[in-house]
Amino acid sequence: TRVALVFGGRSGEHAISCATAAGVLRALDRERYDVLPIGITPSGQWVLAPDDPDALSIAGGDLPQVAEAGGDVVLPMADVRRELTVTEAGRLPRSLGEVDVVFPVLHGPFGEDGTLQGLLEMAQLPYVGSGVLASAAGMDKHYMKVVLAGHGLPVGPYTVITPRQWRTDADAAMDSVDSLGYPVFVKPARAGSSLGITKVDRRAELADAIAEAQRHDPKVVVEAALEGREIECAVLQGRGDDAPRTALPGEIVVDGHAFYDFEAKYLDAAHVQLSCPAELPQHVIDEVRVVAARAFEALGCEGLARVDFFVTGSGRVTVNEVNTMPGFTPYSMYPLMWERSGLPYAELVDELIQLALD
Ligand code: DAL
Ligand code: MG
Repeated sequence: TRVALVFGGRSGEHAISCATAAGVLRALDRERYDVLPIGITPSGQWVLAPDDPDALSIAGGDLPQVAEAGGDVVLPMADVRRELTVTEAGRLPRSLGEVDVVFPVLHGPFGEDGTLQGLLEMAQLPYVGSGVLASAAGMDKHYMKVVLAGHGLPVGPYTVITPRQWRTDADAAMDSVDSLGYPVFVKPARAGSSLGITKVDRRAELADAIAEAQRHDPKVVVEAALEGREIECAVLQGRGDDAPRTALPGEIVVDGHAFYDFEAKYLDAAHVQLSCPAELPQHVIDEVRVVAARAFEALGCEGLARVDFFVTGSGRVTVNEVNTMPGFTPYSMYPLMWERSGLPYAELVDELIQLALD
């Protein structure tokens, strides 16, 4: 089976995607899979990348990156079924041969948001993970909540600030934030890994936080801070007509950071503890797993997703968000939850590829 592993990308989560790719490259069984590593550079060029996990890992706080193209550039061809071609400057395209499946381990916009999925649909290439709609809805924290709430699933209080609202009536936008009560989290609607997110304690800090979020996305979502534990649950599509499978939930325990921010996620393992299974009463664990599977189906996810929750004092479960391409780095919760549930990393990667081929 020929697998094109696509990673890097134009989003702020480029480095995380490289680190995820390193993990997947190491895990793929080379007896069964012929791997074509394709990096997308930060500027958006597709390049044939070296099959070298070490070059893609987060090492000693350094963030990996796909080198800007000097040589071969890969083009996904919408008019040639299942084929990828490569061109060099001034040369005719040559075929890279048929690809059986694409594994896009891209996080954030232009990768996790349905755009790449649309391209792969056009090229008639099977791929791992969610399709266009679920990817787009999962990326957009505003529409994600609309879809989840529309299915009767518990989401927290929030408000949306569109660029036009902010330009024409910033006071009214801030009033709607005030009514959530402080603290709040100000977030770009479409981003990941906590990029552009600020915890805000009072109205006077709002404008700066909104400007920061708008550097990532002109649309901003403001959420009431929920006092509670951060619990996550891994979901894997069922085989055939089977229902989605859920792993034992995990818990994020952060110490010394205002919240589970980018730094805490990837650069400061010492202050973050991923604990799985989370120590919760059995009925809360059951509830988290049921709601995670329902969220997966509400968005129409395929392949995999990680559903993130807040569990408040009384055991109340609220969905914070759904990630359609959760991180697979050595620091990531998604593979850990499956590992602790009896599905080791390499088998998980294998399962995802098989689900895409079915
Ligand atoms: N957006 C990051 C990669 C995650 O959800 O794990
Ligand atoms: Mg996310």
